[in-house]
Amino acid sequence: MEIVITATPESAAEMVADTCERLLKHRPEAVIGLATGSSPLPAYQEMVRRHRDGRMSFAGATAFLLDEYVGLPPGHPESYREFIRRELTDQVDLSEDRLHSPDASGPDPAGAGVRYEQQISDAGGIDLQILGIGSDGHIGFNEPSSSLGSRTRMKTLTAQTRRDNARFFGGDQDAVPRHVITQGIGTILDAGHLVMIATGSSKAGPIAAAFEGPITSMVPASALQFHPHTTVVIDEDAAVELRHAGYYREAFSNKPDWQHL
Ligand code: GLP
Repeated sequence: MEIVITATPESAAEMVADTCERLLKHRPEAVIGLATGSSPLPAYQEMVRRHRDGRMSFAGATAFLLDEYVGLPPGHPESYREFIRRELTDQVDLSEDRLHSPDASGPDPAGAGVRYEQQISDAGGIDLQILGIGSDGHIGFNEPSSSLGSRTRMKTLTAQTRRDNARFFGGDQDAVPRHVITQGIGTILDAGHLVMIATGSSKAGPIAAAFEGPITSMVPASALQFHPHTTVVIDEDAAVELRHAGYYREAFSNKPDWQHL
């Protein structure tokens, strides 16, 4: 695993944008997995800037969202599909029919997971999956106790996650849906390259638990330790609980370029 500690949240965002830019240059038809939540937003803003500057094109790319709330009406501003359209895909040249999200508002949310897996497989799998991390160590919406081999399916959110996400619903925890459809941990681990971004002191505990603790379903992000190509991009505040931060700086952060990412 590459654990890259950056001086600022801005440089973390630039690094994630660099990784995506390099992939799209090398493989314009790449399949990209997109996370929602606030952590990747600065990286998405950087990608939008680079697109406007003519440096990045998504014209040939395909995107898959990690997860979606069940029960929000189509077009609800806090659905993850609307979120990603607003924050990224509508601002770049990715056509809407190449943006995929779990069908969480249709009549058969339970079957939507199997259909989503098929769509990912029909697209040839995900090349680069961008990830955030929840305060309880979740990835996507795979809450603690999720099977480390799970596939896309319905899940029930914990009270902690609904509290954390109430800020997107006017502070009202009761307005946060109880159920979601999320790529499974096994689905996420099938992607070619996993890039997690986490910034700020609230992520320090989950980051240390996920990457320096045991692999356990109690910390779903710890499953990334199984993946042969994981890059964890964190700022100094998110690194404060890492015991081996000095080593990571020496091994990954002080390189003159980022070709290794
Ligand atoms: C939600 C999303 C996750 C995200 C997490 C953290 O639960 N389903 O994909 O990583 O929130 O969000 P934030 O980055 O806002 O802390």
